[in-house]
Amino acid sequence: MNYKIAVLPGDGIGPEVIEQTLLVLEKVGQKFGHSFQCQKLLAGGCAIDATGSPLPEETLEACKKSDAVLLGAVGGPKWDNLPGDKRPEAGLLGLRGGLGLFANLRPALLNKELRDACPLRPDIIGESLDIMVVRELTGGIYFGARGKRDGKMGQEAYDTETYSVGEVERIARLAFEIARQRSKKVTSVDKANVLESSRLWREVVTRVARDYPDITLEHMYVDNAAMQLVRNPKQFDVIVTTNMFGDILSDEASMITGSIGMLPSASLGEGAFGLYEPIHGSAPDIAGQDKANPLATILSAAMMLRYTMKLEEEARAIEAAVNQVLEEGYRTGDIMSPGKKLVGTSEMGRLVVERI
Ligand code: NAD
Ligand code: IPM
Ligand code: MN
Repeated sequence: MNYKIAVLPGDGIGPEVIEQTLLVLEKVGQKFGHSFQCQKLLAGGCAIDATGSPLPEETLEACKKSDAVLLGAVGGPKWDNLPGDKRPEAGLLGLRGGLGLFANLRPALLNKELRDACPLRPDIIGESLDIMVVRELTGGIYFGARGKRDGKMGQEAYDTETYSVGEVERIARLAFEIARQRSKKVTSVDKANVLESSRLWREVVTRVARDYPDITLEHMYVDNAAMQLVRNPKQFDVIVTTNMFGDILSDEASMITGSIGMLPSASLGEGAFGLYEPIHGSAPDIAGQDKANPLATILSAAMMLRYTMKLEEEARAIEAAVNQVLEEGYRTGDIMSPGKKLVGTSEMGRLVVERI
């Protein structure tokens, strides 16, 4: 089959991890007889430099015409002083909103080979860990009204968290459906002891749960959830939460998988279309040094094959190759532990390609 992929390398380590991922896709195409037509487009800081906009119209239009979008990462110190709506990150939010991608799946899976890279005690992690963070992606404080105004104590700035019944219902339903394919437990994370939007969130999730009597629902406040993730991560199966809480908790969850360089993500809407990206950022501190771990992006491509293209065997081929490379002891700096073999970004990519 022929697939059209819009590729947005972005900034910092984005282009480096995308380069390796495209080599992996090329190999999958050769091996399984598919053609992945990858069109590289500008988004983020590089788009600002070239066009003045973090999300040029041409990029959004090309994404809409593709089967899926693959993104590296956007942002960096060079663009940190631009006004909020002109920053690279605004381009990413424009993509998520503009493409209607309301659900962000972030699977925090600890590969048993990486138990040494996980900072938690072996008795806490056991054999392995497997948590699915389902993050609402096009609502909440990321998309509410924001601005500046005069206040009693000088200028003030504000951001607004808003959730509608419909927005909570669709993300909750998806979380319950996902839990059905897993260990049948959903933990809904909110701050209902303080926020009105969280009280609505809790009410709607509880109502949706009635359609899923086979799934256990638990509610948890976000501060407790942050603590429980390191105290006893095994209690979690599916975590469903708001845009901002999901952002924060998934970075925390990534560390129990060994590194943020390991955690992929899929952003989905109503159909098969999706945007796939690692959860990490552009890592300016290691950009351009061949140090970045490309596995989160490579695993994001596997999610793309699974969710958008329905190519399960091909997705597994990538995941198996990644497992094999880890089993053989190859590590980038972020997941390095004593006795393992340190490799760079491009070497890690090459090793995965060879094993497909
Ligand atoms: P970051 O995720 O870029 O980096 C945090 C730390 O993790 C750094 O020490 C970095 O070196 C390390 N790290 C991240 N990815 C890695 C990888 N693949 N391999 C090895 N180490 C890795 O977060 P930050 O420093 O807070 O943000 C940097 C820039 O990235 C900011 O401009 C931010 O807005 C942007 N950002 C973009 C995205 C995205 O495009 N989806 C996500 C997060 C942050
Ligand atoms: C992520 C990032 C983004 C977010 C930023 C860059 C807008 O942190 O994808 O996790 O907060 O969603
Ligand atoms: Mn984040």
